[in-house]
Amino acid sequence: IIRYKRNSTKCPVQHHSKPISKIYFSFILLLLIFTPRVDSSWWHIRALGARVICDNIPGLVNKQRQLCQHHPELMQSIGEGAKEWIRECQHQFRHHRWNCSTLDRDHTVFGRVMLRSSREAAFVYAISSAGVVYAITRACSQGALTSCNCDSDKRGRARDNRGNFDWVGCSDNINYGIKFATSFVDAREKMVKDARALMNLHNNRCGRMAVKRFMKLECKCHGVSGSCSLRTCWLAMSDFRRTGDYLRKKYNRAIEVTMNQDGTGFMVADKDFKGSTKNELVYIENSPDYCLMDRTAGSLGTAGRVCNKSSRGTDGCEVMCCGRGYDTMRVKRVTKCECKFKWCCAVECNHCEDMVDVHTCKPHKRPDWLDIT
Ligand SMILES: *[C@@H]1O[C@H](CO)[C@@H](O)[C@H](O)[C@H]1NC(C)=O
Ligand SMILES: *[C@@H]1O[C@H](CO)[C@@H](O)[C@H](O)[C@H]1NC(C)=O
Repeated sequence: IIRYKRNSTKCPVQHHSKPISKIYFSFILLLLIFTPRVDSSWWHIRALGARVICDNIPGLVNKQRQLCQHHPELMQSIGEGAKEWIRECQHQFRHHRWNCSTLDRDHTVFGRVMLRSSREAAFVYAISSAGVVYAITRACSQGALTSCNCDSDKRGRARDNRGNFDWVGCSDNINYGIKFATSFVDAREKMVKDARALMNLHNNRCGRMAVKRFMKLECKCHGVSGSCSLRTCWLAMSDFRRTGDYLRKKYNRAIEVTMNQDGTGFMVADKDFKGSTKNELVYIENSPDYCLMDRTAGSLGTAGRVCNKSSRGTDGCEVMCCGRGYDTMRVKRVTKCECKFKWCCAVECNHCEDMVDVHTCKPHKRPDWLDIT
């Protein structure tokens, strides 16, 4: 993708006549000048293979580039982690109009949607930070990194509400993961002091803490016939799905904020709000409805999306299709059926076919006067 980007700026210069290349160049220049700073390009690292060349990753700020140069193997973990949190994001939003879709060949990854300080942006910043913590911490435990290891504080004896136990094995070094994720992911936001930077920092932290929240003590019982008079334990991260589910709930109740007058923090927009924003996602702008394709807003629209006729939720045809209606198609579905257990040890199934209706949202109907012309 890096090579593609480079060629794409070169080719037109070589093959087109002069005026075109001039226009093209001014266009690129304009793009470079006006590309907003919120495009968080480290997300793009997901696309890199084994060879991470820090100078070629577009959009890293200096601090990130330095961290990349000093810890190239961590970048690879971040890149693999990115595939995972993007998949989780798409899973969480599969029934929504905005479905966390990514754009290939676009180093902003999510496109212009993220330029808006919406609750979708809040979620993406949180889950991407969580994803970095998760990826780095796991890589530490797997011994894949030279700069970290299992948590060396988890040694000797300890106690929990069930009594004493001995630390054994490899406890996940979540504090290292959080520390690195903070310095790498937050680096970009530390460079400016505006409302969006504050929002990103807040949501990044929320994401990191979500991973820590679901650390769990895993234990083995020892002693006479499983009496559990002796326990050995280690601290481990839970499946990333739990972090995804948690942040998704936080998305639903995200809090609208405005910057306070001296620009050092937030005020909650709702005057009746009581409580703390500390562990909540915050956003500044309302979301677009994501109903129609709108390139300038980065909205793909919902034309062609599959919807559920009997659901009253966000995946219901009424909501998903924004009242435009839907098309219905009969399709053949193949499922496993009549499964039998065969001695020993296999399960054999038949393939059964039935017909099901699949509903997809109609495209936006253009006004009649457009069809006439
Ligand atoms: C998300 O929605 C777009 C159109 O709105 C569609 O093209 C894409 O396949 C969807 N992605 C997923 C992962 O469902
Ligand atoms: C459609 O929605 C209904 C009601 O929420 C649910 O029971 C059903 O499983 C959904 N069907 C599919 C195919 O998701």
